[in-house]
Amino acid sequence: MKKLKVRLDTNGYEIHIGSDGLRYTGHQLKEKDFAGKVIILTNPIVKKLYGNTLKQGLTRDGFEVIFLEVPDGEEQKSLETAGRLYHELSSHYAERTTPILALGGGVIGDLAGFVAATYLRGVPLVQIPTTLLAQVDSSIGGKVAVNHGQLKNNIGAFYQPRLVITDIDTLKTLPAKELANGLTEVIKSAVIRDKGFFAYLERNLDRVKSLEAKVLEEIVFQSARIKAEVVEKDEKELGLRSILNYGHTIGHAIESASDFKIEHGEAVAIGMLAAGRISSQMGIFDQKELARLKCVIEKAGLPTEMPSLKPKRLTQTMEHDKKVLGGKIRFVLPKSIGTVFITDEVSPTLIEQTLAG
Ligand code: NAD
Ligand code: GLY
Repeated sequence: MKKLKVRLDTNGYEIHIGSDGLRYTGHQLKEKDFAGKVIILTNPIVKKLYGNTLKQGLTRDGFEVIFLEVPDGEEQKSLETAGRLYHELSSHYAERTTPILALGGGVIGDLAGFVAATYLRGVPLVQIPTTLLAQVDSSIGGKVAVNHGQLKNNIGAFYQPRLVITDIDTLKTLPAKELANGLTEVIKSAVIRDKGFFAYLERNLDRVKSLEAKVLEEIVFQSARIKAEVVEKDEKELGLRSILNYGHTIGHAIESASDFKIEHGEAVAIGMLAAGRISSQMGIFDQKELARLKCVIEKAGLPTEMPSLKPKRLTQTMEHDKKVLGGKIRFVLPKSIGTVFITDEVSPTLIEQTLAG
């Protein structure tokens, strides 16, 4: 197991990354002085695949395991589901010291985190992410939320987990489209902070797609390290943390203007390249690096071309986004591979030209 530390003023924690993490979770919880009852929150798909392995390890280490299940899907990230879960926690006599283990992708992680942050004013949260996106992004950094009305992630908190256990073996059963979704965030991590890691991706993406354990472990470790470093410097997103939104300004607009027919990971991939094009047009991002970026996105099996959506609809959506400040659209743009900058000084004409493809 490789270990990372997220060092925060209060509530720092470790991320353990490697094979066989599910079986070893009980031992780790004991080391952290947990005892007695644990709640595993998951969905039927993930429970069928990994529920027993996790349970066996926990039982062997003396824990009493209670499963709470929600159906699969983004729509479960709701106050209604949270309400039902509070009820179930209470009927199982969950106490302030009873940890909630989030076994699943980002949907389970965000929902379990929201419930853990609010039930009894906060119970311990352990993230056990099973999608690539959750392993490199959503399980780290403490953003927990549910969706409300038309808006995503608009009711939530910053609530850090006590521990993150990332078992890379779980990626073996991940559908190809979910692997590609996660790869978008992996590429994002490299572009925003680490040109050496970007070069590693250029050399090894084929091995990622054939699910080679050593390479999977390396990309999860490097991406998690980058996210942890950013969160350590800016836990509450007052500045630096917004570089994690690279590709997301245009990406979210594409996702929403396509009525969510274009997946999040695909939309953000297009958004990352579009941000690169904007920066190149501004004379900042080198054309050769832009070509390298396009090549890596393509190699990951992600789209690079602007879909035929009305540029006006896209800009209108961007203007309503959380990333707008003082009425101006804020972009995270690459300066070079490994460094980005934040600006709200992109000309509306350049934005429209880029969105028109
Ligand atoms: P997801 O949780 O819906 O998982 C994708 C699919 O994979 C689901 O059908 C799930 O049941 C299935 N699955 C999970 N693990 C599996 C496995 N090992 N094998 C086979 N199937 C498996 O989607 P996601 O992409 O993991 O997460 C998306 C969510 O994450 C969104 O709600 C988004 O808002 C949130 N998110 C949060 C943060 C954050 O910082 N908190 C960051 C990024 C995204
Ligand atoms: N996914 C963006 C963040 O955690 O800040």
